[in-house]
Amino acid sequence: MDKFLIEGGRRLEGTVRISGAKNSALPAMAAALLTSEPLHLKNIPRVRDIITMGRLLAHVDARVVTPDVPPTDLTIEAERISGAEAPYELVRTMRASILLLGPLLGRLGYARVSLPGGCAIGARPIDLHLRALEKMGAEISTEHGYVAARTPGNRRLRGGHVVFEKITVTGTENVMMAAALAEGETLIENAAREPEVIDLAELLRKMGAQIEGVGTATLRIRGVSSLRGATHAIIPDRIETGTFLVAGAITGGELELAGCAPQHLAAVIDKLGETDVEIRCEGADRLRVRGTGKLVAADITTEEYPGFATDMQAQYMALATQARGASLIAETIFENRFLHASEMVRMGANIAVEGHQAIVRGPTPLGGTGVIASDLRASASLVLAGLVARGETIVDRVYHIDRGYERIEEKLAAVGARIQRVK
Ligand code: EPZ
Repeated sequence: MDKFLIEGGRRLEGTVRISGAKNSALPAMAAALLTSEPLHLKNIPRVRDIITMGRLLAHVDARVVTPDVPPTDLTIEAERISGAEAPYELVRTMRASILLLGPLLGRLGYARVSLPGGCAIGARPIDLHLRALEKMGAEISTEHGYVAARTPGNRRLRGGHVVFEKITVTGTENVMMAAALAEGETLIENAAREPEVIDLAELLRKMGAQIEGVGTATLRIRGVSSLRGATHAIIPDRIETGTFLVAGAITGGELELAGCAPQHLAAVIDKLGETDVEIRCEGADRLRVRGTGKLVAADITTEEYPGFATDMQAQYMALATQARGASLIAETIFENRFLHASEMVRMGANIAVEGHQAIVRGPTPLGGTGVIASDLRASASLVLAGLVARGETIVDRVYHIDRGYERIEEKLAAVGARIQRVK
């Protein structure tokens, strides 16, 4: 298993190019199953989860090239998909595998997907996905760890009225894809409004789907009998962007982030402004962050978009350890997403966690030590903490970070960080 060795205390300076959004690329790849024509995707991030999604698609007989380092442009052909099963060996490594359920059911009228099970950040059930698909005429059973879904007579799904009890990102995406090929109209209320959901809707529209209300909490989808191929460029990764904003800020450095989408980061930019970090928008796809060296505490509460993203909570916590005063961090999306806190405490941070809230008192000098990453964003936060820690930080289990960050150590090293990957 790879590790990162980080020698902290270096000010970062230079330009970082932001990759395509993992959480947009994954549903876009799954959407390829909705058409027999080729789908061309650009700006795909070269991360582990993309390789896993490629393997899942190949498993249902779609044609997709997924070498160990996926190219940024990908063509997927699902002319004839014979299989309709997402097996446990692949699903267990990536919850987003559930995104195959909607498209397979929409195109074939049946699908069998392994239950993803729990994960480090919480139970994360898929009940909302299943209930919504039942509303559209699917008969669903769970047996031997698999969800088996089919429509009576393997006919098309029918439009339905779906009211999500809780906002769910992949749930909204799954239903949107299934509804695109259903008979009649589907109304989704309390839909997720994340930029990645909008990106998927834009792609589906290019493929011929009829979707209204994109970007709002109410989506109206008129099903069509077939969809066509399309070419689509994935939006920039807002969480990678936010992570590098924190990297610039926490090291008192100055970074230019190129190829990003500042409009997707309003909540993060506002909050970092409150902590006295200077962020300037330099054109439509460029941000400049300057750490003033004097951070002040500010509270955050994670929320669905356009609120402060849960996927930025851990990175913000690393920043808060260096801010003067007490920062209250409330996590409202996932029930167990503070596993990074105890590792930061081992590095010298003063963090008290109680239930869904953490209080970070700072600034505290951090000292390098061995830390273990528990999930993708937690790993990123430990790397950030390592950038300001005295001495050497060893971040173990970096396979988590490889799932969603493209060559993070190379991007950081290019702007002055002392970080290396060791086997
Ligand atoms: C997506 O996960 C993202 N993953 C996550 O990013 C992100 O943290 C999350 O949305 C929230 O923004 C992808 O897009 C691939 P949810 P998703 O369904 O869709 C509960 C990362 O680091 N829920 O919006 O799985 C659930 O437990 C990852 O890149 C149900 O109860 O999240 C959670 O508390 C991690 N039943 C809340 O809803 C369901 O059927 C929101 O989850 C579905 C969800």
